[in-house]
Amino acid sequence: MQSHYDFSKAIDRADLSTLKWEMEVDRLGTPDILSFGTADMDFRSPPAVVDALHRAVDTGHFGYPYRRPSYFDALTGYLSRRFGWQVEQSWIDSCVAIYPSMFAIITELTQPGDEIIYQPPVHHVFLEIVKANGRVPVANQLVRRGETYEMDFAGLEACITERTKLLLLCSPHNPVGRVWTRDELKELARICAERGIIVVSDEVYSGMLFEGVEFTPFAAVSEWAAMNSYCLMSPSKPFNLTGLKHSIVITPNPALREDFRRGLVGANLMYGGSVLGYAAAEAAFRDCDDWSEALMQHISSNHAYVADLIHAFLPEVTVPAAEAAYFAWLDLSKLKTPKSVYEELIEKQAKLIVTYGELMGPGGENHIRINLGTSRSVLEAGMRRLLSVLVPLTGRVFDD
Ligand SMILES: Cc1ncc(COP(=O)(O)O)c(C=O)c1O
Repeated sequence: MQSHYDFSKAIDRADLSTLKWEMEVDRLGTPDILSFGTADMDFRSPPAVVDALHRAVDTGHFGYPYRRPSYFDALTGYLSRRFGWQVEQSWIDSCVAIYPSMFAIITELTQPGDEIIYQPPVHHVFLEIVKANGRVPVANQLVRRGETYEMDFAGLEACITERTKLLLLCSPHNPVGRVWTRDELKELARICAERGIIVVSDEVYSGMLFEGVEFTPFAAVSEWAAMNSYCLMSPSKPFNLTGLKHSIVITPNPALREDFRRGLVGANLMYGGSVLGYAAAEAAFRDCDDWSEALMQHISSNHAYVADLIHAFLPEVTVPAAEAAYFAWLDLSKLKTPKSVYEELIEKQAKLIVTYGELMGPGGENHIRINLGTSRSVLEAGMRRLLSVLVPLTGRVFDD
């Protein structure tokens, strides 16, 4: 199917101000950078979202928002259509972003000194938010098996103690790109049920699946999972709305819902959302399935492009298969080059912004993450620069 959405052109950045690009231009002191870092995409949001925002702006009224039935219908319709998950309106809270929700859950459900499990390599805020709240992070590192990653269930059972209260699940997983299967999630639920651990499932990338990949919300694997977890999701990543600050928290368990709401009161986040976030979320969840499908075709073809290019020019570097999100996760360990050296080459010499795996905790060492949410022309230019600095580390000459 030929899409009528065009992801091939680089966006005009003249009036933009983003962490991903403009901050990096300032930091490196040159406009000649190419950024594949911060998890935003270089595309306009879907036309239906832009139209909804225009309508909201045209009212000229930006008061505290009230969640109207059409907002809930859009969200529950999306969850049912995309994941076969039947969610009731009363299970849904809204918030301003994933991590403020995680913060509220951590502060209400745990005490300083309690242990919280996370599964690195994973987005750096998982570790930071646990530490910043005086809780004890416990790493249950993912295991690399050939082209993919798996959870270490034996390691998980071994690291649980009397003080373990929560497990922070990243599903789909950033940066490794796994979409956990129903069986894997069931096994995770079995272990957590046995040991009384609540699962906080960050499902922000669930709206970004590669073709043919099936996603199971953690709460949908069993009655126990439903009653002992929070699903944190958002239109932010799949529809490129990170700056609009809107997210969703779902749990069918009224007691967990009360805990979460108590956690919000502490920061007065009960009234945190904005009318623009609600308008955009509603349109995104209701009207953008075809945009999402076209986007993910573009992203998966970008992933294949990077994997093929690396295989051809730099076979020492491996790129695990991805099932979701917009990252290529490159394992540079066989280059046997210290991070300080390749960071200097990538950032200072090639003027490329990537995310260094060390930031993602154990298992992230000697990896880089490349954000594929961009046009092919920008990606091609970036990959040429990357190969031009990395291939010589092998003693070969890069000649494209
Ligand atoms: C796994 C994960 N969760 C949450 C976030 C932040 O999402 P939001 O800005 O919607 O809170 C990120 C951002 O990169 C992420 O990678």
